[in-house]
Amino acid sequence: MSTIYESLGTQSASFIRGTHRLLIGGHWVDAQSGKTFDVFDPGTGEVVARVAEGDAVDVDLAVRAARRAFETGDWAKMKPADRTRVMFRLADLIEQHGDELAEIEAVDNGKPLAVAKRGIAGTAEMLRYMAGWATKLNGESVNVSVPGEWHAYTTREPVGVVGQIIPWNFPLSMAIWKIAPALATGCTVVLKPAEQTPLNALRLGQIIQEAGIPDGVVNVVTGFGAMAGAALAAHPDVDKIAFTGSTETGKRIVQAALGNLKKVSLELGGKSPVFVFPDADLDLATTGAANAIFFNSGQVCSAGSRLFVHRKVFDRVIEGVVEHGDTLKVGHGLAPGSQIGPLISSQQMQRVSAYIRQGEEEGARRMNRQSAPDNGGYFVRPTVFIDTSTSMSIYREEIFGPVVCAMPFDDEDLEAIAAEANNSEFGLFAGIWTQNLGVAHKLARRIKAGSVSVNAHMVNEPALPFGGYKQSGWGRERGREVLDLYTSVKSIAINLD
Ligand code: NAI
Ligand code: MG
Repeated sequence: MSTIYESLGTQSASFIRGTHRLLIGGHWVDAQSGKTFDVFDPGTGEVVARVAEGDAVDVDLAVRAARRAFETGDWAKMKPADRTRVMFRLADLIEQHGDELAEIEAVDNGKPLAVAKRGIAGTAEMLRYMAGWATKLNGESVNVSVPGEWHAYTTREPVGVVGQIIPWNFPLSMAIWKIAPALATGCTVVLKPAEQTPLNALRLGQIIQEAGIPDGVVNVVTGFGAMAGAALAAHPDVDKIAFTGSTETGKRIVQAALGNLKKVSLELGGKSPVFVFPDADLDLATTGAANAIFFNSGQVCSAGSRLFVHRKVFDRVIEGVVEHGDTLKVGHGLAPGSQIGPLISSQQMQRVSAYIRQGEEEGARRMNRQSAPDNGGYFVRPTVFIDTSTSMSIYREEIFGPVVCAMPFDDEDLEAIAAEANNSEFGLFAGIWTQNLGVAHKLARRIKAGSVSVNAHMVNEPALPFGGYKQSGWGRERGREVLDLYTSVKSIAINLD
């Protein structure tokens, strides 16, 4: 086992090195099989913890616990204002335990501690935003035209037991993005964190108990996607499945959900374009374009992985992005001053490195000169490709690493520019840098993506809906829109005659 514990605070160290069980019905239990699996520190490649390996049997127990909590007991009877209060308490506790959660995140996922700490505040805000909706889930009265006198109205009811499968790139905030709307609407949850990053979901399970959320409302089953994840997606008593991850796995989830036609929402991959026009504030645009792809080592579904820069300013902007990437301090999440961490796993490092090799073989030119630290961690340095073409795999496929394909454009024709943005099977996000309001609005309209930012990259705002067009997914998370995914509308017509 690793020596990493020495760099941690006592609370996070004692949590990580402790025994990790599944949270089912308010109890911490071993997997029924007794199996466990290893958790790696991606900054060193060493094993830091061992976690219960849940499978279909454990998922079934968790779904039963969630069903009980949904149908009977304290949660089902809880008033909306009390759900709000309990969610506020959870948000406060997350902030109080913020340093510890950030340290766990830095070890589990590899992201720099400072970045993990900034993420905590956003996570708490997401909970508070969603908590406010609990008291505002109203139906409406409906004027009907059928003969007679009627009282007709709609209600919005929680969809029921929800299975939630999350990825490893933002382990804590992905858990909260999923859990928050479920709690606000009165659903109950079985959460399956990614096998690469199970630790913070388990710590969150403890904090959920501390907040006073009743037993069985949130259950956490750690395990592998093909076993625990697949069992949750296929379970006949799960009413809805919410998934964030790869498009490939999203399609498997849709198939698994067919059995009982459970509701499905999917937040999947992207190959998001960023456009820099010559009239943009070029310093801001250059930093923005660099952060868009290098933040979190590019392991972001909305990463700006296709960079289009007007030919007049192409050299200057690209030079700036390359320079930005070359000066970023790449290192272990707990090393002082690290700005970007390792990739999540040796598998992802190999996958991203293979894309980089393939890009070079296909004739793209790699601009960066720095090499990655070599300490056993899964590091890949920021990489900028020019001389790219639209048929290259690095241009078409989601790489999920700090690798950007840059391309000049000379067109003033927004239709042509939008067509290039839309030349992708994905449609999650787009960034536009320009001072010309007309260009910004017109391009934003023409791009087929769930979110567009102008003179910013990605606004981390709980009130703004987020999700994909095309193969980037189904449904919108965040905002008022997510509530539609977690509620069913019922219409009631009463004949008063
Ligand atoms: P993945 O999509 O396979 O894994 C994400 C989650 O799905 C994990 O919790 C995993 O356990 C679960 N899962 C895997 N197979 C499952 C199945 N058959 N049924 C139910 N759940 C299942 O992603 P993976 O394999 O870790 O990464 C591969 C690629 O996926 C990355 O290179 C990246 O391109 C993409 N990805 C995209 C993410 C996004 O946010 N858009 C997040 C993570 C990965
Ligand atoms: Mg996978």
